[in-house]
Amino acid sequence: MICETIIKTILLHFILHAVLTECHLKDLGEITKNWSNVLNNLEKRIIGGTNTTKYEHPFAVQFFNHGGLCGGSILTRKTMLTAAHCFDHNKNIAEMKIFSNPRFLFDLQSIIHEVWQFEIHQNYSKEMFFSNDIAIIIIHDYFEFGPQVQKVTIIDTDVWMNINNTFVAIGWGENKYGTGFKNNNFKKVDLYYVTRERCKTENRIDLSPEMFCLSGDGETDTCRGDSGGGVLWNGALVGIISHGRGCAQAPGIYVNVYYYRTWINETVKKIYKEFCDFHNHKALK
Ligand SMILES: *[C@@H]1O[C@H](CO)[C@@H](O)[C@H](O)[C@H]1NC(C)=O
Ligand SMILES: *[C@@H]1O[C@H](CO)[C@@H](O)[C@H](O)[C@H]1NC(C)=O
Ligand SMILES: *[C@@H]1O[C@H](CO)[C@@H](O)[C@H](O)[C@H]1NC(C)=O
Ligand SMILES: *[C@@H]1O[C@H](CO)[C@@H](O)[C@H](O)[C@H]1NC(C)=O
Ligand SMILES: *[C@@H]1O[C@H](CO)[C@@H](O)[C@H](O)[C@H]1NC(C)=O
Repeated sequence: MICETIIKTILLHFILHAVLTECHLKDLGEITKNWSNVLNNLEKRIIGGTNTTKYEHPFAVQFFNHGGLCGGSILTRKTMLTAAHCFDHNKNIAEMKIFSNPRFLFDLQSIIHEVWQFEIHQNYSKEMFFSNDIAIIIIHDYFEFGPQVQKVTIIDTDVWMNINNTFVAIGWGENKYGTGFKNNNFKKVDLYYVTRERCKTENRIDLSPEMFCLSGDGETDTCRGDSGGGVLWNGALVGIISHGRGCAQAPGIYVNVYYYRTWINETVKKIYKEFCDFHNHKALK
């Protein structure tokens, strides 16, 4: 679990990637097209097992921030969603990289993207420790969509918040707390909905309204390095992996993306506009 804000330092020598700075306003609005009726399409995902592939979860990306590892989910051809705490230890864009089609951790055959700008929620960690743990990144170039790189579908309802539901969290993080990040494969884990009351009691904390809790079977969980990555229900994104007390100790805490649907929508538009304005193309009306 993403028990810790500072993630184990990894020293990497990145290959610099050519930077494209064209501004295509047609990408705007992509995020809103599949908000509706997602449930109709989504009853056929496989749940179970441990290894997964980019073909199964093509929206998942790795976000390296100055030695820290986080996950993320592609929103549009230029933007991705992650956790705000992934920026706690570094805000220098030159030290950030996104890997868009990694088969495993440190896959240097990945497509490597430069970060152009990021937007952390204005009230991140203000009302409460880790509250509003959400951020959006815009990249210089584009995510080239194909079988292993696609945008995510965000849930358009909150009916999934029910103790009878099973979720899938994905990531490249630690397999066990403290084991480190060597050659981690892309993993998925089944998690179960935990009521707010049980979550508060077991974590001995209060929860802000956008937080929800999931638990593994006692031996499985999300762990360090998974932060920022996605939690799915019926194939649609419902949560961002946020934090917890240890891994597989107490229910983990996740960010409800449905709660932020308007913020996500507006922030994507805002950073596209900044990108376009910066590159001196016509601004949005
Ligand atoms: C919306 O999702 C459906 C089903 O996944 C897909 O076939 C379609 O291309 C998507 N539409 C857009 C505009 O991306
Ligand atoms: C997952 O993949 C790794 C590496 O390919 C393999 O060693 C391991 O046995 C796989 N685990 C499962 C449960 O299939
Ligand atoms: C942050 O909190 C302030 C004060 O409660 C509120 O007015 C503002 O709308 C919040 N910002 C966002 C983006 O929710
Ligand atoms: C969970 O499922 C059980 C058995 O089907 C049912 O009785 C219960 O009402 C369900 N709980 C919720 C919160 O939907
Ligand atoms: C997102 O923005 C578009 C365009 O402004 C709007 O039509 C849509 O309703 C918004 N969706 C949400 C969930 O806020």
